[in-house]
Amino acid sequence: MSWLEQVDPAVFQAIRDEERRQQHHLELIASENWTSPAVREAVGSVMTDKYAEGYPGRRYYGGCENVDVVEDLARERLKQLFGAEHANVQPHAGAPANLAVYLTVLKPGDTILGLELSHGGHLTHGSPVSVSGQLYHAEHYQVDAATERLDMDQVRQRALAVKPALIVAGASAYPRAWDFAAFRAIADEVGALLMVDMAHFAGLVAAGLHSNPVPYSHFVTSTTHKTLRGPRGGFILTQSQWAKAIDKTLFPGLQGGPLMHAIAGKAVAFHEALQPEFRAYQERVVANAARLAEGLMNRGLRLVSGGTDNHLMLVDVRTSGITGKEAQARLARVGITVNKNTIPFDQEKPTVTSGIRIGTPQVTTRGLGLEDMDELADIIAAAIQASSDEDLAPLSARVRALADAHPLPGIEA
Ligand SMILES: Cc1ncc(COP(=O)(O)O)c(C=O)c1O
Repeated sequence: MSWLEQVDPAVFQAIRDEERRQQHHLELIASENWTSPAVREAVGSVMTDKYAEGYPGRRYYGGCENVDVVEDLARERLKQLFGAEHANVQPHAGAPANLAVYLTVLKPGDTILGLELSHGGHLTHGSPVSVSGQLYHAEHYQVDAATERLDMDQVRQRALAVKPALIVAGASAYPRAWDFAAFRAIADEVGALLMVDMAHFAGLVAAGLHSNPVPYSHFVTSTTHKTLRGPRGGFILTQSQWAKAIDKTLFPGLQGGPLMHAIAGKAVAFHEALQPEFRAYQERVVANAARLAEGLMNRGLRLVSGGTDNHLMLVDVRTSGITGKEAQARLARVGITVNKNTIPFDQEKPTVTSGIRIGTPQVTTRGLGLEDMDELADIIAAAIQASSDEDLAPLSARVRALADAHPLPGIEA
């Protein structure tokens, strides 16, 4: 019997149930992944017990010699992975990483320019419900109405019109590649700094499958738990000239003691990302996304921008006469987890939406390949286009067969 089972059977049971849910369902949430047993071992270690306010070699507590080793490894590996001059691995998550950059370079009321939330941007890029839109004057650029892709001339016009102090590139739901050189040219022209939030595609960048924002940006922020396949967390990359200021904003400015168990997990994940196998994995993520997108379009579904260049796609479900909310619920009934998502120029509320977002990082980690994407496309299209509940019934068994053929490593069924 495990310690947890003895001490707290209720939490033990919930964790076992979550393991079973992940094992038997297909997780197509674009921002999720499956961490390695090594990452989870580090996150579940005694590193969680250590207070280590400050940075390696400059702590406010004694006994930090071992956590210093781990944080130094995480920083060095991260710099190597992305070719950065300075790395801060202490942000508890992506949102505080973004806020730390804003607090470092902006004064309250300064203008930031980011991608509109309903066009794929993130809440922390200036939404009125986020502190980023409350403390700062937030302006937004959009995707082009016809192509549903970023048009850099339109971004430039917007930047010239609103004269931001900081331009934010990066998104949560944009299926296409980013042109960082063009963003930097615009930032320089309008006298703005450039921050790239690569939370979603960091794994692709690490593998050389998406252009690296580091050479073009003043700041690069990210989460560690999406395509990068690390534990839940964030980080900031910057140039030497901003290193001191960023570190000071994060601690003592914004956070207290770092989560050393999470930083240990980040160090392991960055080590894994430096291995050749990681590039092969990311290649499969992208190839699977392309195949799934093609399969969905061949079955009559419309994809925003007509496809994908990365690990995710947005399906416009209006053509099937349903909402994103209904599509999410139908797929949940057959064992597929996705999230409803606004599509550009959506007429529905964010709680309803006209689309769903689908990503391949997690199913690729568990070993699904190109032929499985054809089966998945068939199941998803059938669920979205179903005319009655009876049509959904046979799909559950097909999802279960796909999941059972690709068990999650290290989990009892
Ligand atoms: C682009 C982007 N930035 C930041 C975040 C925030 O990350 P976290 O949830 O770790 O705070 C997300 C999360 O979805 C994201 O997609």
